[in-house]
Amino acid sequence: MAKFEPVLLARIGKPDSALLETYQRDGGYSALKKALGMAPEEIINTVKDSGLRGRGGAGFPTGLKWTFLPKGHPGPIYLAINADESEPGTFNNRILMEEDPHQIIEGIIISCFAIKSNKSFLYLRYEYGKSYRALENAVNECYAAGILGDNVMGSGFKCDIVLHRGAAAYICGEETGLIESLEGKRAWPRIKPPFPAIEGAFRKPTIVNNIETMACVVHIVNKGVEWFKSMGVPADPNNPRDAGSYGPKLYCLSGHVNKPGCYEVPLGITARQLIDEYGGGVPNGRGIKAVVPGGISMGFLSASELDTPLDFNGPGKVGCLGLGTAAVVVIDDQTSMVDVLYNCCRFFSHESCGQCTPCREGTAWMTKIMHRIRSGQGEMRDLDLLAEVAGSIGIIPGTTICGLSDGAAWPVKNAIKKFRPEFEEYIQSKRSTIKPAELLAVH
Ligand SMILES: Cc1cc2nc3c(=O)[nH]c(=O)nc-3n(C[C@H](O)[C@H](O)[C@H](O)COP(=O)(O)O)c2cc1C
Ligand code: SF4
Repeated sequence: MAKFEPVLLARIGKPDSALLETYQRDGGYSALKKALGMAPEEIINTVKDSGLRGRGGAGFPTGLKWTFLPKGHPGPIYLAINADESEPGTFNNRILMEEDPHQIIEGIIISCFAIKSNKSFLYLRYEYGKSYRALENAVNECYAAGILGDNVMGSGFKCDIVLHRGAAAYICGEETGLIESLEGKRAWPRIKPPFPAIEGAFRKPTIVNNIETMACVVHIVNKGVEWFKSMGVPADPNNPRDAGSYGPKLYCLSGHVNKPGCYEVPLGITARQLIDEYGGGVPNGRGIKAVVPGGISMGFLSASELDTPLDFNGPGKVGCLGLGTAAVVVIDDQTSMVDVLYNCCRFFSHESCGQCTPCREGTAWMTKIMHRIRSGQGEMRDLDLLAEVAGSIGIIPGTTICGLSDGAAWPVKNAIKKFRPEFEEYIQSKRSTIKPAELLAVH
């Protein structure tokens, strides 16, 4: 493979990188010009052939999702862009939006043209004020330059982008929660089917895609399918269900590393390579106890699993839920997994929207049990109880509407299985690591 050249982050850190003038000077909007000369179906096929899988967490093939739209629909068809980015440790969307908003806008217009949509809603979390301002300015620049509006680059294609600031909740990132919130309602995920491609925002066919997915579309159109497929991990020819893991990926590295940051590398780098070669290892010469492979909802890799490739299949092979958002959080050997797991449980319990009893009650009970353990009053049987609750909530056992509860269950399942001796030692010691102020925070 040729030497890897970052494309998604290529402009980050350059002076005035968020402005139209510099974006165009760097070749920006040439992919859009090219796309406008193609047939929409040709663009969909190009994205399909590239093997691009959504970067928002689920890894669903992007081109395939686009083909689920009803054929010959009179419209409107909507493209909803998911910039809720609430998975702990994830910040790649923010960097793209703040530093290179035109890259995103170019991807959105190309995608709208491909799916025959004239309107995109870009839904971003409320806390992202700087992203919002950068996008707002970039969108205004595009309208003034005729890149957005009734006649995109003189092609006759109409495209509008509406920026929508969310109300700041993790569940607003779930695609149907996002759509409900966009419609001005509480972000309660919808029962599927119908999937958004059939009935989405304002009951119209809607494609939901992530910010990084949009950035990838630009480079696929510009550089072609072969270029995209030259990176990553090819599909297993013996597994017809494997869609492969192609292209560059933004990995967010945080926690106990010397050089935390957002790194662009081909899909499939191992956790160890990422931590050592990009993150500069763990501070103070400490060892690694655990690594979150892609946001806490994916669970944990143990120290013996660090050579796991971080592609769409790798983490699943060692018992994690998947690659998720590729937010890699390093936990050193001085950190208590009891504390880590308690924090995970508390987060999901707080963020559960409450519609489904197994999720609402399960996440709350897991938090209470973890609090009991941390306060020195845990019993050995609590570990089996935690595993039982975690095994009973989520889409995978088929008890809930959305995947938040799977995300809540996985860190519990992984921690109890992979770090059980540490939990047992903690329970036997009857010690408490709860600080007085924390008592107020327990539900
Ligand atoms: C609880 C929950 C939270 C989610 N949060 C996000 C998010 O913040 N951003 C995102 O792009 N996808 C998020 N997703 C995944 C979306 O539902 C959806 O799959 C994604 O936006 C599709 O875009 P993609 O195909 O480009 O990846 C979340 C899913 C769940 C279950
Ligand atoms: S699984 Fe949890 S977050 Fe998702 S809809 Fe049900 S209660 Fe809400």
